[in-house]
Amino acid sequence: MRATRSAPLLGLLLTGMAPAQQTVLDPAAVQAHRIATLWWFFFGLLSLIFVIVIAVLLRAIARRSRGIEQEPLESFHVPSAATEQKLSRTVTWATEGTVAILIGLVVASVATGKTVARYIEAPGLTIEVQGNQWWWYVRYIDDNPQQIVVTANEIHVPVGRSVAIRGTSNDVIHSFWVPNLNGKVDLIPSRVTYESFRIERPGHYRGQCAEFCGMQHAHMALWVVAESDEDFRKWREAQRGVAREPDTAERARGRQVFLNNGCVLCHSIAGTTAFGQNAPDLTHFGSRLTLAAGTLPNTKGNLAGWISDPQAIKPGNHMATIPIRAEDLQPLVEYLESLK
Ligand code: CUA
Repeated sequence: MRATRSAPLLGLLLTGMAPAQQTVLDPAAVQAHRIATLWWFFFGLLSLIFVIVIAVLLRAIARRSRGIEQEPLESFHVPSAATEQKLSRTVTWATEGTVAILIGLVVASVATGKTVARYIEAPGLTIEVQGNQWWWYVRYIDDNPQQIVVTANEIHVPVGRSVAIRGTSNDVIHSFWVPNLNGKVDLIPSRVTYESFRIERPGHYRGQCAEFCGMQHAHMALWVVAESDEDFRKWREAQRGVAREPDTAERARGRQVFLNNGCVLCHSIAGTTAFGQNAPDLTHFGSRLTLAAGTLPNTKGNLAGWISDPQAIKPGNHMATIPIRAEDLQPLVEYLESLK
C-alpha cells in the first residue's frame, strides 16, 4: 500500500523514515504542494538563521578565548562608551531583523492559507465525513438518492477531480487530516466545515485524526484511495448495491449468525434486516483495506480476532464483545469477508 513515488531523501530523514503514504513532504494534491512549498521555505530560511547564529556564537567564543577585544573596563562590570554604543547598535539591528523575518513568515503563511482556501472550486464530488469515537462515517452526497453511497474509514476518489469534504462530528471534536492531500480541518459537533483537494496521481494516502478525541484517538485512521475515473465509477457502482447474497452454505450460516446476534443493533448490511446506525456500515465490508479504522489490515485472521475480543485490540472502543460460539466464528468471518 505504498504511494507511487517516494518522498525526497531529506524528507524521509526528517520524518523519521515515515512511510511515503502519510507525509506532507510528498504532496499528491495541488493544495498539498502549496503547503509543502511553504514548509520547505520555512525549513530553508530557519536553517540558514540557525547556522548564522551558531557561527556568530562560535566566533565570539573563539575571539574571547584568544584574548581579542578584551578592553579594560571603566569600572567593575561597566563597559566603555564605545563598546556600549556598538552593543546597542548590534542589539537594535538583530531585533529589527528578527521582527522583519517573523512578519515575513506570517505573510508567507497567510498567503499560502488563502491560496489553499481559494482552491475550493466547484467540486466534482462532495463527500460527507463524520467523525465518531473512533471511526469515520463516509457518505457520498448526490442530488440523485440512487447515487448516494455510505461507507466507513475509506474514501475512494477519482484522480484529477476536485473533491469537497463536508466535515461534521457525531460526538467530540475530531480533525480530518490526510497530509499528502491538504492541511487539517476540524470536525465539530453541530457545525459544518469544509476542505477540498484535487489529487494528481493515483495512490493510497493515509489519513489520521489530528485532534485528541479520547482513548483511541491514535487508532482513528483512514485511507484515501485515488484511482482512475473508470475504476472509481466501478467502485461506486459496486458500493451502491445491496450486499451480496451468500453463495455457499457456510456464508449463509455466517449471515444467520450475524443477524441472530447483537451485531445488528449497531451495524447495517443493506439487503438484510440489519440496520443499526451507530457503527460502520458493513454492506461492502470485504472490499475495504483495513478494519477498526485503519488499525489492522482487513484479513480473515484479523477479523476473527477483532470480533472475538475488540477490547484487546482497541481498548475503550464502543464495539461490544459478543460471545460468538467457536463454531460460528468461521462462518461469520467468511460471510463478512465475502461482502465485496
Ligand atoms: Cu478523532 Cu482524534
